[in-house]
Amino acid sequence: MFIDTHSHLNFSDFNEDYPDVIERAKSVGIIAILNVGADLPTSKRAIDLAQKEDLCYATVGVHPTNTNNLKAKDYSGLEELARKKKVVAIGEIGLDYFHNKVAKEIQEVSFKQQILIAERLALPVIIHNRDANPDTLAILKEKGIRGVMHCFSGDINFARAILSLGLYISFTGNLTYKKNESLREVAREIPLRRMLLETDCPYLPPQSKRGMRNEPSFLIYTAEELARIKGVALEKLGEVTSKNAEDLFKLARLKPRTTFSFT
Ligand code: NI
Repeated sequence: MFIDTHSHLNFSDFNEDYPDVIERAKSVGIIAILNVGADLPTSKRAIDLAQKEDLCYATVGVHPTNTNNLKAKDYSGLEELARKKKVVAIGEIGLDYFHNKVAKEIQEVSFKQQILIAERLALPVIIHNRDANPDTLAILKEKGIRGVMHCFSGDINFARAILSLGLYISFTGNLTYKKNESLREVAREIPLRRMLLETDCPYLPPQSKRGMRNEPSFLIYTAEELARIKGVALEKLGEVTSKNAEDLFKLARLKPRTTFSFT
């Protein structure tokens, strides 16, 4: 069993065939898919999918590259959405200095605002960080919140800093890329009990699927790579990383009851 902790079936790439995509995910042992919001419309769509599909959960948030022109009413709208059933995190939120689309100051305000929403609702955060390590760390240190560094691609020092804040580290298909030996080195050093798996689909397909649209069933390739790196059986890797995801996002709490006790 595996959990795709960062997927975008809520993006238009999957409008036509998401039921088939979900069936293929089930067939390889995916037990949950977290569809992650990148703005208000995709956050809403993630919630729609969570209501329709047992396997799906939602997270709501505004990606740093979409934070221009956010108004107070957008934040209150987001908070409203975050109270809906099966919303398990605020994300993806953070800082992106690579794309350079939004001024740093605006990204920072928006990151902090959304962390406050997470705090108020006692939800974890899914963090997007690109070329902004020091500033991301400074904000996380100041705020002290539960969460995960999504699509980890930093070095071992950054990984240690993230772990010391009590956060999880999540790997995508880029772990399987031929040239990414340095990332595999980092994965070797990180304890399994702090790791999560994700596809970030439709982006970042694993090595054997490059050029294709990524999807949750391809998580298995990243899982195989990580199992090899950690020297554990694939099943064991799935068990541990799924347990990590269930703990962080409190998924078990949301599962329908299958047994009743009469005490
Ligand atoms: Ni994403």
